[in-house]
Amino acid sequence: MKEVKVGIIGFGTVGAGVAENILKNSEVVAKRTGVKLVLTRIADLDITTDRGVAVPRELLTTDAAVAIRESDIVVELVGGTTIAKKFILEAISAGKHVVTANKALLALHGKEIFDAAEKAGVDVCYEASVAGGIPIIKALREGLVSNRISRIYGIMNGTCNYILTRMENEGADFHTVLADAQKLGYAEANPSLDIDGFDTAHKTSILASLAFGRWFGMDPVFVEGIRDLALDDLRYADELGYRIKLLAIIKSNNGKVQMRVHPTLIPKSTLLANISDVFNGVMVEGDAVGQTLFYGRGAGRSATASAVVADITDVALNIAAGSVRRIPAFRPGEQFEQVAAIDDIS
Ligand code: HSE
Repeated sequence: MKEVKVGIIGFGTVGAGVAENILKNSEVVAKRTGVKLVLTRIADLDITTDRGVAVPRELLTTDAAVAIRESDIVVELVGGTTIAKKFILEAISAGKHVVTANKALLALHGKEIFDAAEKAGVDVCYEASVAGGIPIIKALREGLVSNRISRIYGIMNGTCNYILTRMENEGADFHTVLADAQKLGYAEANPSLDIDGFDTAHKTSILASLAFGRWFGMDPVFVEGIRDLALDDLRYADELGYRIKLLAIIKSNNGKVQMRVHPTLIPKSTLLANISDVFNGVMVEGDAVGQTLFYGRGAGRSATASAVVADITDVALNIAAGSVRRIPAFRPGEQFEQVAAIDDIS
């Protein structure tokens, strides 16, 4: 059986989840695919903290270069946009395939990273960057490839949805619930990214880029978070028959794309309004398929690891097949090149 070497850089919540998934489930993956994932190295500056997973001591290193050198696939789970970018570009220039969950990095520097990957002839996969365990990237890139996409909208930040759900159900205080989300490992290292809407905006930019074939970056995305929502806002919405959710909204019309993130009133009778806690829901509308709705855990160690290992498996299958590249960054060449003003598309 073909073995593919996997190195992880970043042994935090998701890194530990990926290590655990590979150690626990690689036999299942091997039976299903004929490829065995072998964890070769895990790099982190802190290799002494107990991460709740029994990793052989000799796999741990503080040197990311070792993880890059000794792997076929490098999994970047450091987060942030500085050192993570450096590791990814180093891995690419060493001819290694990359899997990342880093939405901020892709939203801000996706073009540079994918240009480098194209030049080096390697894959960069990013399923876990949007909506945690929901395979929305694969769905857009592959399952819906024959569709022109007209709308994508949804709940894409587990932390915000968890906060709003508990505020609404328990009348709980915003800061207490945020602290719980952090303890549960849902929130970003800097929770402002969650509650001020930027994490959702990063995901919005990535999905729009994937759907419309060009890296849009962050400038065109309108962003407003949930920090200023009060319990009274939720109560009044409830009285009027609505829930308030932080929505990502992408619309295209006449060759223009609009991207926005803001708290939105949603009628309680709709499916999206009933998505609670850390769960995410993403609606994608295509001209052939009509509306499709994807639902699942949007954050957390194990769900996010599930998406990361799906990418690792895709790349491993390519390696086993003789490095035939078949995982495009996005689907280039669509007609939606312009960005619409915020009030251009209703
Ligand atoms: N902080 C993010 C969230 C993690 O709460 O959704 C998953 O992207």
